[in-house]
Amino acid sequence: MAKINLDSILEGRRSQPHMLVEVLLDLQDQEGYLPEEALKTVSKELGVPLIDVYRVAHFYKAFSLKPRGKNLITICTGTACHVRGSDLLVNQVRGQLGIEPGETTADGQITVECVNCVGACALGPIVIHNDAYCKNMTPGKLRKKLDKAAGRKKEAKDA
Ligand code: FES
Repeated sequence: MAKINLDSILEGRRSQPHMLVEVLLDLQDQEGYLPEEALKTVSKELGVPLIDVYRVAHFYKAFSLKPRGKNLITICTGTACHVRGSDLLVNQVRGQLGIEPGETTADGQITVECVNCVGACALGPIVIHNDAYCKNMTPGKLRKKLDKAAGRKKEAKDA
C-alpha cells in the first residue's frame, strides 16, 4: 500500500486537537476513507488520543473506516422514508447487487449505506447518489441508477 501523504492536510493544524474533525474530513476527501495508519499519524500530530480519534470517526456518518466504492448510494431508512417504502429499496440492492447495506460490490463500483433521516422527509423515500439527492425513489428508479453506477448497459429485449 502506498504511503499516505498527510503534509498538506496537517499544514497549520499540528498540535491543535480542536482541528480533528476538519483534518478527518480532508483525509476522507483525499483517500475516500480513513486508513488506520493515517489515523495513528493524525492522533500523534494533533495530540489527540487514538481512542478519541476513533470515537469521532465512528460517530459521524460522513466518515468511513473501510474503502468505499466509486459510487456511494445512501438509502434513508428513517421513519418517514420507511413508511414510504425504503425497505423495498434495500431489498432492491440485495437482489440486484447481492450485497447488504454497509458493503461494497466486489468490483469496487458501488457501496451502499443506510442512514436515519436526511431532513427531506416530505420527498421520501430519499436516496443519495454520491452528493445528489434523489427524491420519491422507487425500486425501478433505483435499479436503473444502480445499473448506471455499475457501468452496465441496458440489455436488448431479444437478447
Ligand atoms: S426519514 Fe428520510 S428524509 Fe427524513
